[in-house]
Amino acid sequence: MKFVGLVGSNADQSYNRMLLEYIRKQFKLKFELEVLEIDEVPMFNQDQDWKESFQLRLLYNKITRADGVIIATPEHNHTITAALKSVLEWLSYEVHPFENKPVMIVGASYYDQGTSRAQVHLRKILDAPGVNAYTLPGNEFLLGKAKEAFDENGSIINEGTVKFLETCLDNFISYVGVVSKLKKPKPIETEDLDCNHPISTTITEVDPDDPDWVEKVAEITGAVSGNTYVKLDHGILTVDQINMFLKSMPFELTYADDNNQFLYYNNAHQDPDTMFAKRIPSQSGNRMSTVHSSLPAARMKNVEWVIGTLRNGNQEYVRTLIPNPNPAVLNTHNYQAMYYDDGSYAGINEIVFNFKPWLDWYLETTGQRLVGGGTGASSGASNNSNHGASDATSGASDSAHTGGSTPAADASSGASSH
Ligand SMILES: Cc1cc2nc3c(=O)[nH]c(=O)nc-3n(C[C@H](O)[C@H](O)[C@H](O)COP(=O)(O)O)c2cc1C
Repeated sequence: MKFVGLVGSNADQSYNRMLLEYIRKQFKLKFELEVLEIDEVPMFNQDQDWKESFQLRLLYNKITRADGVIIATPEHNHTITAALKSVLEWLSYEVHPFENKPVMIVGASYYDQGTSRAQVHLRKILDAPGVNAYTLPGNEFLLGKAKEAFDENGSIINEGTVKFLETCLDNFISYVGVVSKLKKPKPIETEDLDCNHPISTTITEVDPDDPDWVEKVAEITGAVSGNTYVKLDHGILTVDQINMFLKSMPFELTYADDNNQFLYYNNAHQDPDTMFAKRIPSQSGNRMSTVHSSLPAARMKNVEWVIGTLRNGNQEYVRTLIPNPNPAVLNTHNYQAMYYDDGSYAGINEIVFNFKPWLDWYLETTGQRLVGGGTGASSGASNNSNHGASDATSGASDSAHTGGSTPAADASSGASSH
């Protein structure tokens, strides 16, 4: 499960931040927790555009996609901080990321009963129609005497307190599992597969379907190639090295941006004759509608569904198993959303991967066998004549989001042989 934690304080030194950091470290095997700040969010003003604040956009995007939210609230004058209230006003006015979102409240403060009054207020606020969160009932975790509660490593000293915190968090995990069933997926807007909404990186001078798109765009942008060094987040490589690296991957990678423009593929790992939409060099730069022009209308709808689902944050990935008559092939397609720094949708990466050789290797190395299931799993879907309904699994993280069966979808490659 993926949770986000909101630090309800905008102070540089905050016991509520310490509490969330402790929860993140101590319970990392139970869930992932990303701690988010509110210190740069301006005071709520309904005349201003919420999108102008980077931190608000980040909060909106992260909360929207999280399985649950843990709010650590301080207590100021027997209520929550003005900073936290302001954030909740922003996020309940034009946008409503808390709607039907499981939320747990914790709090740290100086005094014995610290945050109990703030927590009562916060519950009421989270219940307001514009916020509409599903707040975990009971389980009031109050960390009083916060100054003495942590050791020098930021760990809570009292064992009983840690045990109680763990019980509350376990209850929250169960609650998220139940409440997620009530979640209403956000409606999927119609996708523009014709790239009519250029983004900041779109080169508008060259038609996306131009077969010489790569060469022409390279000239306009002065794109580097060959032995020129490129600085990446975690390394420096030449363009040749990047190409070599990507082409050696034992799977196919594709990249379509948030304007639905097909920008890149690493290598044709799959026999083009088994694909509806063959992967050929002139596809780079194409409109998604062109990449999929040979697909029947129903499959085109699937492409739109996959992109729309990833774009609106209903799921982080969509995965399909594509049946193949060849017993040496267990082909999966994994479509994963990419995000800009503010957490907004940046497009799709796709991995087309035959994991049969890896599966065989794993079974041989560990001595394990596949049992049950009845589909002859190790020889894959190969002998399965029911090729009409390949399931796509999906999720923001795990069981909380198993969306069940989704359309067999070929978002960017259109690869499928049935
Ligand atoms: C303006 C103000 C009002 C406060 N009121 C309360 C209060 O009503 N109850 C309480 O337990 N602590 C109160 N405190 C002390 C806070 O518990 C303490 O500052 C705490 O560290 C705030 O959380 P933080 O460290 O995450 O910012 C107050 C602090 C300030 C600055």
